[in-house]
Amino acid sequence: MPLEVVVLAAGHGKRMRSRTPKVFHNVLDKPMLAHVIEVARQAQADRIHTVVRPQMLELARQLSADGINWVLQEEPKGTGHAVLQAMPDISQDSHVLVLNGDAPLIMHETVASILAKGSNSLVVVTAELQDPSGYGRIVRDHEGLVCGIVEDRDASFSQRKVREVNSGAIAASARVLQPLLDQLNCSNAQGEYYLTDIVGLAKQAGVKVQTVMAKDPEEVLGVNDRIQLAQAERILARRRAESLMKQGVTLKDPSRFDPRGKINAGIDCSIDVDVVLEGDVTLGEGVSIGPGCVLRDVEVGDRTVLREYSVIESAKIGSDCSIGPIARIRPGSVLEDEVSVGNFVEVKASKLGRGVRANHLAYIGDAELGSDVNVGAGAITCNFDGASKHRTVIGDNVFIGTNCTMVAPLSVGSGAFLAAGSTITTDVSGEVLAVGRARQREISRWTPPQRRKKT
Ligand code: UD1
Ligand code: CA
Repeated sequence: MPLEVVVLAAGHGKRMRSRTPKVFHNVLDKPMLAHVIEVARQAQADRIHTVVRPQMLELARQLSADGINWVLQEEPKGTGHAVLQAMPDISQDSHVLVLNGDAPLIMHETVASILAKGSNSLVVVTAELQDPSGYGRIVRDHEGLVCGIVEDRDASFSQRKVREVNSGAIAASARVLQPLLDQLNCSNAQGEYYLTDIVGLAKQAGVKVQTVMAKDPEEVLGVNDRIQLAQAERILARRRAESLMKQGVTLKDPSRFDPRGKINAGIDCSIDVDVVLEGDVTLGEGVSIGPGCVLRDVEVGDRTVLREYSVIESAKIGSDCSIGPIARIRPGSVLEDEVSVGNFVEVKASKLGRGVRANHLAYIGDAELGSDVNVGAGAITCNFDGASKHRTVIGDNVFIGTNCTMVAPLSVGSGAFLAAGSTITTDVSGEVLAVGRARQREISRWTPPQRRKKT
């Protein structure tokens, strides 16, 4: 039986107080809607229908969610009304799973257990919450059978005390679902067509209602405001942190870790507090990342130490390197093994050969440095002439003295020595000393500046 998933995303999300529709707010690396769609994909849905308002289509298409059937709900008239908009696109013979676009933490395992219950009954995912306020409550009869769901705003005082809540994930065959949806009305506190009313209707129609209790109550968190958005982000971060710890990574404080991307890490890596990892990050074995580092699309070799507050983006760093503190490695940079880049050094689109040392205050842009080059403090490649960028190519074992200004295009032969304070404008041969500065002289008869006397 084909599986068709309906993701509900058309609500106003007023409690977010945002111009961005709620489901497009990010939870770590991607919009919460993208997390839900990912779960639908993991469940091997044959089709995924996502219900949005027409104004959301533009953002929706940017979601890189190929193969999604975007269903329009002109006005958000409730979750039941939203599912009804998708029904004409759904085959009568399919198994339908409804997921809330604002519940990004639902796990694949839970979805799999809903589907395992079969399609002849109505299956609802529930959770037992310490604080159930805001959620629909599961109402059971004296035998413990589910007889309905009552929304928080419509619940009586005693119903509000029920801690078992509706997660929003509901499944049944299209054949079971359609006639129940057709009976919905909007006589309730919010004047909406509640999807949840189908549970009471199922009971009346003699359709079996089953529940699947989420293993972890955190899974069902619905994000209605920015407080819940922050909670969802922390829960997801902790899940990813725990999976890294299980793989052999030490996290100084898993609650102060922002894994906003896909992370691959070898054993014995250690990550200090407030580290942000984005995009694709691959760490070798024994990599150490200091507090406050930000890495975006980076590959780092074994035993390399990234010291505090370094920012590295779209770069490849070799093994046994030492980077930072406060270093900036920009896109297109490749650092070979045993490179040392110290504080206030910026490297952009450059290749640094094995053993290069640039320990203080330097800018290396559009350059290629051979092995064992020493870059003195304050050395700068002048790669931009105001119109275009030019390259600097430096051989092996070159010594770049303090405060050298290397005006590109430029090439420096292996073993050359650039004297401190030089402005190097023409190519330098190998093994020579290049001096490009005014000669120092002494002036003995001179009049020092005089302070003007106060009158
Ligand atoms: C809903 C459930 C509640 C459950 C909770 C779990 C209903 C009536 N209530 O409440 O039982 O405990 O989720 O988080 O279903 N949406 C549409 N079109 C609409 C209205 C909503 O697509 O017309 C979408 C929203 O974008 C959202 C989802 O449906 O992603 C849930 O809607 P929301 O208004 O947040 O429902 P809750 O009040 O949280
Ligand atoms: Ca909600």
